[in-house]
Amino acid sequence: MKILEAQGLCKTYRRGQQVVEAVRGVDLAIAPGQILAFLGPNGAGKTTTIKMIAGLIRPDAGTVAIAGRDPHREPDAVRQLGAVLEGNRNLYWRLTPMENLEYFGVLRGLTRQAARRQGRQLLERFELTGKRDAAVQNLSRGMQQKVAIAVALVHQPQLLLLDEPTLGLDVEATQTVKTLVREIAASGCAILLTTHQLDVAEELSDRVAIIRAGEVIAEQNTQELVRQFAGASYTVELEGELSAGQRSQLQAHGVLIQDPRLFVRGAEILYEILEIVRPVPIFQVKKDAADLTEVFLKLVQAPQDD
Ligand SMILES: Nc1ncnc2c1ncn2[C@@H]1O[C@H](COP(=O)(O)OP(=O)(O)OP(=O)(O)O)[C@@H](O)[C@H]1O
Ligand SMILES: [Mg+2]
Repeated sequence: MKILEAQGLCKTYRRGQQVVEAVRGVDLAIAPGQILAFLGPNGAGKTTTIKMIAGLIRPDAGTVAIAGRDPHREPDAVRQLGAVLEGNRNLYWRLTPMENLEYFGVLRGLTRQAARRQGRQLLERFELTGKRDAAVQNLSRGMQQKVAIAVALVHQPQLLLLDEPTLGLDVEATQTVKTLVREIAASGCAILLTTHQLDVAEELSDRVAIIRAGEVIAEQNTQELVRQFAGASYTVELEGELSAGQRSQLQAHGVLIQDPRLFVRGAEILYEILEIVRPVPIFQVKKDAADLTEVFLKLVQAPQDD
């Protein structure tokens, strides 16, 4: 069973003469308790996709189902959804954490009493009880982020969308948010997480979807993705200049060239590559202990098909 099923999502922005195909046929699915890291370079289309899933912008094409219901057709579908979006518009800054929890709880269908009860529990769980009566604008950035996540959870949604939840947080607050995200998933909530902190993504996610220029170019179990690259990936560091002929030969072998480094995929071709490089001096050949950051860079920097 999937809590989120998004299929064929497309969105083109038009502003005067400018046409931006921000999202071009994105499919995403998340099961209960699963964390999907949705990664991609700036402008790849992550926030646009998340907003379409949240029912905030209408896709030009494609469908979204949250627990089987379409937020664009059935407004009630958003009751199964909590979202912490980019920027600071998730909370009322003049209200206290408790007032925010109550307000958003009622907005999403809870009784006032139920919203208060949930609010109290969340404040306790997020260790914010001491700040329940301070205006959100007077809290630290990390606390504000915790309040935003608490508010997103007040109606106990089955799907949580987190767009860069650790942006601008210090090491300790990042750690706290990571722990919370893990706990929320353990309680059965499906989580869609975008972040540029790939170590955070690697630690937290069960699966990764990588988007580039509006298209998902990889979607896989996180550890498998990393392992797949780790087994057969080498960095060759050169001490001299390659000729144009060598470069085109290397590229024909699928080698990614970032002077003075070459990224070689596959042990089978390593010797061939070294042969092509001859007589340029080699500083070192290193087998990559791949982590998600390296995998990500290789995928998003590889030449595009179209
Ligand atoms: N309201 C808008 N009007 C016009 N173009 C937009 C609008 N919002 C986003 N875009 C464009 O759509 C593309 C995708 O933007 P989006 O915000 O979805 O990317 P992102 O992956 O979230 O990037 P980041 O990592 O920087 O947050 C970009 O080229 C962006 O400039
Ligand atoms: Mg974004």
